[in-house]
Amino acid sequence: MFIVVILYIHHQSAVACRVTIVNGGFLPTSLKCKHKRRPQQFMINRVRKSFALAEVCKHGGKVQEAAKRLGAEPLDFSANINPLGSPPLEKLVLEELKHIGHYPDNSYSGFCRAAARFTGVEKECIVPGNGSSELIRLFAEAALEEGGLALIPTPTFGEYENQSLLAGARVEKLQIDQSGLPVFRDSDLARARLLFVCNPNNPTGRLLSRDQVISLADRCEEAEVFLLVDEAFIELSDPHQSVADLAPKRDFLFVMRSLTKSFGVPGLRLGFGVTNPTLAKIMNRARIPWSVGSIAAAAAEYLLGCEEHLERSRTVIREELNYLIPALQSLGLEPLTSQVNFILVNVVPSGIDSDVLAERTMAQGILVRDCQSFGLGKSFIRVAVRGHSENERLIAALRQELSCRD
Ligand SMILES: Cc1ncc(COP(=O)(O)O)c(C=O)c1O
Repeated sequence: MFIVVILYIHHQSAVACRVTIVNGGFLPTSLKCKHKRRPQQFMINRVRKSFALAEVCKHGGKVQEAAKRLGAEPLDFSANINPLGSPPLEKLVLEELKHIGHYPDNSYSGFCRAAARFTGVEKECIVPGNGSSELIRLFAEAALEEGGLALIPTPTFGEYENQSLLAGARVEKLQIDQSGLPVFRDSDLARARLLFVCNPNNPTGRLLSRDQVISLADRCEEAEVFLLVDEAFIELSDPHQSVADLAPKRDFLFVMRSLTKSFGVPGLRLGFGVTNPTLAKIMNRARIPWSVGSIAAAAAEYLLGCEEHLERSRTVIREELNYLIPALQSLGLEPLTSQVNFILVNVVPSGIDSDVLAERTMAQGILVRDCQSFGLGKSFIRVAVRGHSENERLIAALRQELSCRD
């Protein structure tokens, strides 16, 4: 005997399931439920609007995709990773595999202690994250109300806008002046909840001085507006310009670090925030538990002690900038001055659009970053600073494309 039981699983969507009573029992004859499909728009309307409208932010480093197309791994100048790569991690990773049967310690005390020592603060000021991307999301959620205003200098890293929009906020773009500072009036700040500053800035390669950032922090604190300073690249530039050590003593300042670029470990996903203990406590309560895996957390403790690796990296970057900038100029391109491990290059003088140039160098096994997604039209590419022989290959590939144009 069949009885049709209508289960009201959700107040909107009724789902009909067939069940049979056998010998007084109550067993489902089949797990097949007859879902009455409605147009998916009904479902989409129930998703938070900012999520339903979200777009995927474009990034470089699509090595695996390119390798599939090319049949061989390309040389990647599109992601800005330490040219020396990472310090050796094999032994540590193998050792840590023994612990993957347990959850990580969600307070990440070892990672936080190492990050605190590295930045010269107390460990109560650290917020660990699964890459700094996770912290951009977390901080946008923490600082922005629905409809709140985020101020974002442009061009800059796309996740600030992306994560602000996901948080339901509004975004206003700010211009950057000759000295690299975002241009805004106090009245703009008064309307805002959060100002993002990337230092050094991706993609321009411009580094603000510590004093410049402090003056921004002063203005923000005065206006009671949060300032997020993203120092993802500062270890590959000039760490003396960092304001991480000041964050614990100030209100409204959140400084972010990433281990991805500095220690060449994009696959591990490691970053941390530095702020005052009160805000750090709030964020540590709100963050997703165990978001940093135990292998990554152990690697962070080790890597944050590898300061000599960073010093050597900075020397290589300085030397290679001295090679690459004139070499790019000699090809008729216009590289911007850079204080970090990547260069923004104006390709307009070549008469070739950035996307076309990126596509052509890719055919030669060289990935460069087409900068259209930064709102720069088809005028710019960004190239990472790599080791010398690799940089020579980049210049050779560009020379080939530029000399055989038309
Ligand atoms: C300026 C900047 N901040 C943060 C990130 C994200 O880094 P992570 O790997 O730590 O999430 C990137 C990645 O490209 C970046 O360019």
